[in-house]
Amino acid sequence: MSDATGQQHVTPEGTLDLGRGDPDPALLPLGEVRAAAEHLLSAADATVLQYGAEPGDPAVRAALGRFLRERGAALATPERLFVTAGASSALSLICTRFAARGARVLVADPSYHLALRTFADHGLTVEGLASDADGPLPGALEAALARGPVALLYLVPAFGNPTGATIPPDRARRLVEACARHGVRVVADEVYRLTGFAGPPPASLSAYDPDVVLALGSVSKILAPGLRVGWIEGPERDLAALAETGQALGGGGMNPVTAAVVRDLIEADRLGPQVERVRDALRARYDAVLDALRRALPEAEAAPVAGGYFLWVRVPGFRPDRAEETLARHGLRVAPGTRFAPPLPGPRDDPPVAPAAEPHAERMRLCFAHYAQAELGDAVGRLAAAVREADAGRPEPGRNL
Ligand SMILES: Cc1ncc(COP(=O)(O)O)c(C=O)c1O
Repeated sequence: MSDATGQQHVTPEGTLDLGRGDPDPALLPLGEVRAAAEHLLSAADATVLQYGAEPGDPAVRAALGRFLRERGAALATPERLFVTAGASSALSLICTRFAARGARVLVADPSYHLALRTFADHGLTVEGLASDADGPLPGALEAALARGPVALLYLVPAFGNPTGATIPPDRARRLVEACARHGVRVVADEVYRLTGFAGPPPASLSAYDPDVVLALGSVSKILAPGLRVGWIEGPERDLAALAETGQALGGGGMNPVTAAVVRDLIEADRLGPQVERVRDALRARYDAVLDALRRALPEAEAAPVAGGYFLWVRVPGFRPDRAEETLARHGLRVAPGTRFAPPLPGPRDDPPVAPAAEPHAERMRLCFAHYAQAELGDAVGRLAAAVREADAGRPEPGRNL
C-alpha cells in the first residue's frame, strides 16, 4: 500500500501508525491460504495456469456469487460479476472504459483519498458534494447533475473510508435514483460492506437500481490484500464493455490463480468463518479505541461506527496536518483529515484558503484494524500526549492581540 504522496508506506521502528488502512498481519490466515493453494495446484488440471476468461472463471464467479447473495448482495449472479485484481484495479478499469479524460466525477466530501488519486490519474475532474453524516446531500447532487454531464458518482456507502459511516437506505435510494434519471453510473466502493460488527451487512447499493450501480468488492479487508482479488457487480452490458478493454482482451482475466484460491476457500466453507474472525477482532478493537479515547482524550469527538476500519476523530483546536512532527516525536502517525478533502490534495493554484475554511482541518482518520487492543491503548495515549504538547505551545486566544 502507498500513502497519499505515492511513497511506499514504511512505518519507522517504534512508531504506531494509525494512519494506515491495511489489516493486522495476525488476522491474515496464512495456513488457510496455503492449504487452498496446495489443493488447487496439486490438481492435475494445468489450465489454472492459463490466461483466464476476461470476466473471471465461471466457477469463481459462481462461488463468489453464492457467497455474496447470502450476504446482502441479492443480485450477485455469476453473469453480473466481473473478477478484478482488487477494488483499485476495478476502479481504474471503470475509469478507462466509462469516463473520458476531462469528464466530471462527483464524490462525497470527505472521500477516500486514493480514489481521488485514481481519478486524477485518469485526467478526470473531481467535484466534492456537500455532505452530512449520512453522505452527500441529495440537493447538492441534483444541483451538480443539473450543471452538465457527469460520468460517475463515486461513493463508499458502507462503513466508509474515511468516516466509517454508512449511507442510510433512504438517502442511498435518493442518490441512486437521481443518477439513474440522468443516466449517470454510480460506483459503490463496498470493500468494507462485510466488516459490520453490529448486525447483518447493509444491502449492496445495486439493490436500489441494478442498471446504474457498479458495486466494487474485494477480499483485501476481509481475507488478505496480497491476493489482489476483487470484483465488480453490475449490469451485464457494462461488464461486457469492460471485457472489451485492451487490458482484458490482452491479459485475459485478472489474477486467475489467486481468484481460484479464493474460490477454493469459499467452496471449503473457509471464507465465511474468516470474515467472522475479522469482524470479532474489529469489534474488540473498536471498543478498545473508544474506551482509550474516553479516558485519555475526553474532548475528542467521533461519530460511532458499526463496522469498517476507521474512526473519524476531531479534537477541537488540534490540527493533525500541522502536528506531524509532534506526533512523530511521540511515536505516532495518523491520517490528517485534510488528505480526504476533494479535489485531490496537493499543490493548488488557487489563492491560499483561510485556515478556518480549510475542510476537515481538525479531523483525523484513526484506523483500529491494524493493531490489537493493547497497542491501540498505547497509541491513543501517545495521541493525547501530542495534543497536550501542541496545546501548551499554542498562544492563548487574545494573547497576541
Ligand atoms: C474505500 C477503499 N477502496 C478500495 C481500497 C483498496 O482495495 P483493494 O485492495 O481491493 O484494491 C481501499 C483500501 O484502503 C479502500 O479503503
